[in-house]
Amino acid sequence: MASKLEALEHWVNEVAALTRPARIHWCDGSDAEYQALVQQMLQTGTLIELNQQTHPGCYLHRSNPSDVARVEHLTFVCHPDEQDAGPNNHWMAPAEAHAKIDALFDGCMVGRTMYVIPYCMGPIDSPLARCGVEITDSPYVVANMRIMTRMGAAAQARIEREGTFIKGLHSTGELDPERRFIMHFPAELSIKSYGSGYGGNALLGKKCHALRIASHQARSEGWLAEHMLIVGIENPQGETHYIAAAFPSACGKTNLSMLIPPEGYLRDGWKVWTIGDDICWMRPGADGRLYAINPEAGFFGVAPGTSGSTNHNALTSISHDTIFTNVAVTADNQPWWEGLPGTPAIDWQGRPFDPANGPAAHPNSRFTVSAKQCPTWSEMAEAAQGVPISAIVFGGRRPSLLPLVMEARDWTHGVLMGAAMGSETTAAATGTVGVLRRDSMAMKPFCGYHYGDYFAHWLSFDQPGAKLPKVFHVNWFRKGANGKFLWPGFGDNLRVLEWMINRVEDRVDGVETPIGILPGDGELKVDGLRLDPAQLDALLDVDNAGWQAELAAIGEYLQTFVPHLPERLREEQQRVARALDAAD
Ligand code: GDP
Ligand code: PGA
Ligand code: MN
Repeated sequence: MASKLEALEHWVNEVAALTRPARIHWCDGSDAEYQALVQQMLQTGTLIELNQQTHPGCYLHRSNPSDVARVEHLTFVCHPDEQDAGPNNHWMAPAEAHAKIDALFDGCMVGRTMYVIPYCMGPIDSPLARCGVEITDSPYVVANMRIMTRMGAAAQARIEREGTFIKGLHSTGELDPERRFIMHFPAELSIKSYGSGYGGNALLGKKCHALRIASHQARSEGWLAEHMLIVGIENPQGETHYIAAAFPSACGKTNLSMLIPPEGYLRDGWKVWTIGDDICWMRPGADGRLYAINPEAGFFGVAPGTSGSTNHNALTSISHDTIFTNVAVTADNQPWWEGLPGTPAIDWQGRPFDPANGPAAHPNSRFTVSAKQCPTWSEMAEAAQGVPISAIVFGGRRPSLLPLVMEARDWTHGVLMGAAMGSETTAAATGTVGVLRRDSMAMKPFCGYHYGDYFAHWLSFDQPGAKLPKVFHVNWFRKGANGKFLWPGFGDNLRVLEWMINRVEDRVDGVETPIGILPGDGELKVDGLRLDPAQLDALLDVDNAGWQAELAAIGEYLQTFVPHLPERLREEQQRVARALDAAD
């Protein structure tokens, strides 16, 4: 017993010797602790109070303008053997990485408080959950971790019981992009992050632990750590199907996880249940099905575009007790972003709003809110055994070619669909926005090991006795000749989910095409939609020549993972390519 706690204490002392803080605070996760941190941050200006009449318990944080998104070029996965990182990661030798980043940590907390945050990713009593401890000098990180994870005494008790935990060390440092690294050491179960205070770079439970480190752990332990939302769809008969969906950052996970059914569906009694909006850990259960938990306890969602008409549930969730990062404010001090009614007075950098300076809210501005504040939050999010997954969905921003929805003919084809995923880049990471890049399973920035081995791991779930989910691919973002989205999206995406569930239940047949199974005539319910038949045709069109080129591009992309690329995946790509040639 004592020795397990000692391991934690030993590490904390080691870190304190390196960073030399003025004091150490062990976080208990209590309300009182959170309130005290908020008061302290209001005094130092780290938090700004928003209008407490309209938004009780809501605060604004303005991050350094050079620190507003994840930094993939400064993110490293440091396996002892470079081979294991794969072409999908930046790699540095562990010894070199430690030396580089420890030099930055040296004395970085002098005069400051060092916070020790024990946290649990997943329901505290779940066998699928995993614990970590983040050490940070940022009270903003502590406050966010309190919302995003099960943080404090209960997590610490589990750590003391189990003895194992992920070590995460973080300092905001000088916020100098030249002195910024996000380093992962999967073999050592540790993370070191320096020089950024922004979300995915600094809240180490999220992308760093729950995806990069966990994906690597999951490979050896036989489960999957994925960049997926989890949503329950309850039909009028009261049956609920759980769907897990992987879309790249800022491509609609949060929205789909809490969608509001269209009018007719609501009348008929359809309900939507939110389990998670970003991360999903799945493991085969005794019955052969995949069971999933959401390791997180909150949402770190994209603010711009969130409105009463697009995502009313998100808007309701964030009407109180929410931390906003890099949004604008109105004249009466309410949070504001593009997509909301009203006008901004002060932009995300604290300047009087001037359209000449660009958008009022940063395009990657965020809200941090407890999942329990969501009107559609499901108690099943606390279920220790997780929820059974009926369908896995892949998707991205594809202005052309990719149909609204297609179904993989089997697991192997589904893995190919996931591996082939592409999307236009977004503001969620620094760099150019709007260029197509391959983002297999939406894990390009998050897979903690070689993509080729990762594809093989996915394929390995196809075993005798397995009752795997059906796999689908969707595209809410296909555009017409006028440059506008062809599909209304948002709540109407339920129409597509209904078709998937009908396929799972074998109630509709679909139509086989070389690229997969598409909805047959009348199978997709579009009644009540202002969608002319030509638009629907365009959404479900299979452009054979375009797809031949796509398959060639996919083939070239897969080639970059040789020799780790599983032969079965290459054969699957060739099978689809041949089917397209035959249909030519
Ligand atoms: P996440 O980062 O994957 O969780 O993505 P979000 O759900 O936060 O959405 C990111 C952006 O995509 C927001 O601006 C949304 O308004 C927009 N979006 C989400 N779903 C849809 C959709 O079905 N259609 C369209 N056109 N935009 C969407
Ligand atoms: P997301 O995650 O971009 O996938 O929404 C938050 C972040 O790490 O930036
Ligand atoms: Mn999100």
